[in-house]
Amino acid sequence: MSNTASAPRKILVTSALPYANGAIHLGHLLEYIQTDIWVRFQKSRGHECHYVCADDAHGTAIMLRAEQEGITSEALIERVSREHQQDFAHFGVAFDNYHSTHSDENRYFSELIYTRLRDAGHIATRDIEQMYDPVKGLFLADRFIKGTCPKCGADDQYGDNCEACSATYTPAELIDPVSAISGATPEVRSSTHYFFKLPDFADFLEAWIRDDHVQPQIRNKLMEWFESGLNEWDISRDAPYFGFEIPDAPGKYFYVWLDAPIGYLASFKHLCKREGLDFDAYWQKGSDAEVYHFIGKDIVYFHALFWPAMLHGANFRTPTAVNCHGFVTVNGAKMSKSRGTFIKASTYAEYLNPEYLRYYFAAKLTSRVDDLDLNLEDFAQRVNSDLVGKVVNIASRCAGFIKKLGGGRLSAHCAEPEMVARFIAAGDAIAEDFEAREFGRAMRKVMELADEANTYIADAEPWVLAKQEGREQQVLDICSVGVNLFRQLMVYLAPVVPSMAESAREFLKLDTLDWESRQKVLLDHEIAKFKPLMTRVEHDKIDAMIATSKEDLVEEQKLKETPKGPLADDPIAPEIAFDDFAKVDLRIARIGSAEYVEGADKLLKLTLDLGGETRTVFAGIRAAYAPEALEGRMTVMVANLAPRKMRFGVSEGMVLAAGSDEGIYLLSPDSGAEPGQRVK
Ligand code: MSP
Ligand code: ZN
Repeated sequence: MSNTASAPRKILVTSALPYANGAIHLGHLLEYIQTDIWVRFQKSRGHECHYVCADDAHGTAIMLRAEQEGITSEALIERVSREHQQDFAHFGVAFDNYHSTHSDENRYFSELIYTRLRDAGHIATRDIEQMYDPVKGLFLADRFIKGTCPKCGADDQYGDNCEACSATYTPAELIDPVSAISGATPEVRSSTHYFFKLPDFADFLEAWIRDDHVQPQIRNKLMEWFESGLNEWDISRDAPYFGFEIPDAPGKYFYVWLDAPIGYLASFKHLCKREGLDFDAYWQKGSDAEVYHFIGKDIVYFHALFWPAMLHGANFRTPTAVNCHGFVTVNGAKMSKSRGTFIKASTYAEYLNPEYLRYYFAAKLTSRVDDLDLNLEDFAQRVNSDLVGKVVNIASRCAGFIKKLGGGRLSAHCAEPEMVARFIAAGDAIAEDFEAREFGRAMRKVMELADEANTYIADAEPWVLAKQEGREQQVLDICSVGVNLFRQLMVYLAPVVPSMAESAREFLKLDTLDWESRQKVLLDHEIAKFKPLMTRVEHDKIDAMIATSKEDLVEEQKLKETPKGPLADDPIAPEIAFDDFAKVDLRIARIGSAEYVEGADKLLKLTLDLGGETRTVFAGIRAAYAPEALEGRMTVMVANLAPRKMRFGVSEGMVLAAGSDEGIYLLSPDSGAEPGQRVK
């Protein structure tokens, strides 16, 4: 039963870099889960495999989003990166490094690749005319221009096509065009742009595409593009732009899609520095390492044309393969915010076990580019029947008898050596499926084995034998076979459901569930107490997830329709007369002492000095201030408010603070104001 493992391969794997201006959703997760399963499989096989990714942090959209939120682009990408990494961690997506395209390494490689291309004559410059927003001082990409359709007259149409009549046009043809950002009428302005001369690489690309680096469906698509001719690619954008300035071209920035794929190199370089790996061994021309990019079908053009050409032109090796997947639909339709099927990763994780989704995606994934439907009914049924009903069931049926009859130790001999050997041998074909990204086929094989294991146990009826005198050893033998079969299945499922596999590993008291480890049958081996490894999908959790996703939409629309900020939630109160205002007597007060109030988790008790008079005021600011930080501080109080009797004492006035649940900000006067002074 020995099986000499082949020599370890050196493999670098990437997933596409998610944009840093939005949350990870279930559509994205198909890609990260697909990639992560493949990576975990390679690691299980003992190969040297590195999985890197990063946030795609540059571009106009991110700059505008930050502006809308009133923060810097740097602060936005910092926050989103944290959110993204948290989402990925919840779903067991285990990058070896997660970086950012807004990084030193990425600046370095972007400049290096650009200057190498330039020096080899692959960069051209040319003046182009473009719409310009004179109010924002910004050139406008097509999607930032709105106007009336020149064909059908529908208003409020974006950029270059009409949603009403599907006409296509240039933004300049729109009637009464306006900038979607400022509402200003755009002007046509000319500016110099930098181009990557893609046609220089036509022969190289044609050979590369034919050479099995992409799936057949993708190859056909690429050949179509190819025949209609390759164009030079505009790689520059004018300031203001959040990105890297082009060396020797002040005020010109690399277009986000130029430095995005270079982010793969940057993230890997960062990993190499941390772990002492040899970067060049992976990226120099002629390298024997393998490089795989996993991407969605919408970004093939960038990965299968521009990217190999850029790498080749800049004297780096090109990818071994670009592995493309289709799009996720939910219940047979495009993910829809109004139907609540545009589900964020964090919303899903609030309600459902992420490993359900990993299994469901795996069960439906092929090596092809077809779209994948997440049918929520089928999802619940499939997870419940396969993982819970078939796999977990094997262990839960056997564990009790092993505890009772073997004192927690498996039988010292194997009662069904042939069956166990067959389960072990099945690992070779299953491995081929994983390698070929035919995860659905692998899962079907695993579930067929699970069926066989269940049938074996059902036919052997250990629970009937257990009631008969003198059959203890036989029952222990049967259940020990059951546990061994379960162990084989968990080796095969571990790349798909790593956290369930980790619990199984603990139950089995094994050091590892690596692929090779399955060769050694467990005899006279102690196992731990059985704990449920996975519970059933509950339908009401699915319903709640959909309901919450609909609420997300409401939140988003609020953001769009009303000015952002406090006014959106708390509109200005009805107008009052000056006399009404004059009735309020506001005074400067010095906080003499501040203390906690027992039994009140929001309040602080303040003693206020009004310059000759002392007041006691209970203020709901405990969440934001430690008492000792307040002592001696100046603030503003309402001095003529009728005393209010509270549970803890009488409050003789009120201090002024801004804020909400998210933060409380006590008002204070500029220095120089004195206790008792009137505020007017
Ligand atoms: N930032 C670019 C990629 C740069 S790679 C050098 C981008 N980002 S993205 O956030 O829009 O998408 C990230 C990945 O998720 C892409 O591969 C994309 O195809 C994939 N998906 C986004 N929505 C998807 C679905 N609904 N279904 C499946 N994959 C989807 O593109
Ligand atoms: Zn129209």
